[in-house]
Amino acid sequence: MIEAKDLTKIYKSRRGNRIAVDGISFSVGEGEFFSFLGPNGAGKTTTIQMMVALLTPTRGTIAIDGLDVVSYPHQVRQKIGIIFQDPSLDDRLTAWENLEFHGRLYGIDSKTRERRGDFLLGVMGLGERRHDLVRTYSGGMKRRLEIARGLLHSPRLLILDEPTLGLDPHSRRSVWEYIHRVRKEVGMTVFLTTHYLEEADTSDRVAIMSAGKIVAMGTPDRLKKDLSSEMLSVETENPEALTSYLLKTYPALDSQIRREGENLLYFPLPPGGDLSPWDLLRTLPVPIREASVRRPNLDDVFIHHTGSALKGGDTEGEKHK
Ligand SMILES: Nc1ncnc2c1ncn2[C@@H]1O[C@H](COP(=O)(O)OP(=O)(O)OP(=O)(O)O)[C@@H](O)[C@H]1O
Ligand SMILES: [Mg+2]
Repeated sequence: MIEAKDLTKIYKSRRGNRIAVDGISFSVGEGEFFSFLGPNGAGKTTTIQMMVALLTPTRGTIAIDGLDVVSYPHQVRQKIGIIFQDPSLDDRLTAWENLEFHGRLYGIDSKTRERRGDFLLGVMGLGERRHDLVRTYSGGMKRRLEIARGLLHSPRLLILDEPTLGLDPHSRRSVWEYIHRVRKEVGMTVFLTTHYLEEADTSDRVAIMSAGKIVAMGTPDRLKKDLSSEMLSVETENPEALTSYLLKTYPALDSQIRREGENLLYFPLPPGGDLSPWDLLRTLPVPIREASVRRPNLDDVFIHHTGSALKGGDTEGEKHK
């Protein structure tokens, strides 16, 4: 459904050139739920803009359903439903009017608009509110309406650019419930960008993006397993001594030890051998206050590949070439 090869975007300005997307290649299969996980400025939105022909790649190619985006922008757009990062509803209109407007823009006949609009508002839980002004909607309802609108022309690919950004946890959950529901009922390919690891965790495959590059790609499960079977967290009075002991004893931990706060160290169980977390903890020469062991999550994977945490991580402003 999506095939990107060496896709690159360089923004040129008087202050210099900025490489927003740096030679990425990936492909997404029909029906797959694929996500881009990365912090602010990673290049997620720029990639999407090239996918929908709003930006021309500086280098490389991208094709949707076998069609090159640069050569066939109109045909490609017919295949895509997109939910932009910034809200784009007209909130002086009702939900129904927003759908009508979009439907006409896409040249959908009135019978189909009616039937499809009715169905999608139902799926997104907005049937009863269809004639209310969008202005009176909550943030979560607006997002759900945008998804209904994006699906009106029956696209094969739904693109969601940070669909739950700025929503409270309750609305985020509800938006996700509806995304899963509509996927089950309509069955299209989904391309998601997010900086929430829990969202990327539910996808079939994830590409971890940092500073314009894909640094890791695979199923969430595989990425976590490749990192380590376990993550250890150790609280100690003397984190420096513990760090230097760990590095000397397990050279594989080089750049894998993460310090949180004053006294807390996080690191993966060193690979190889029959070492259990408990064996390792028992042999530490430094007194420890508390220790725990857990399975790795996508944040650990992100840190492993980029050296910084996803939360609050910002690659912006670092890259001038
Ligand atoms: N129109 C533009 N002109 C110049 N630089 C830009 C432009 N749009 C984006 N950039 C830069 O390109 C890089 C990637 O931006 P992009 O918006 O694609 O990131 P993102 O991953 O979508 O981030 P966010 O999570 O904040 O939405 C950033 O360094 C950004 O400052
Ligand atoms: Mg973005």
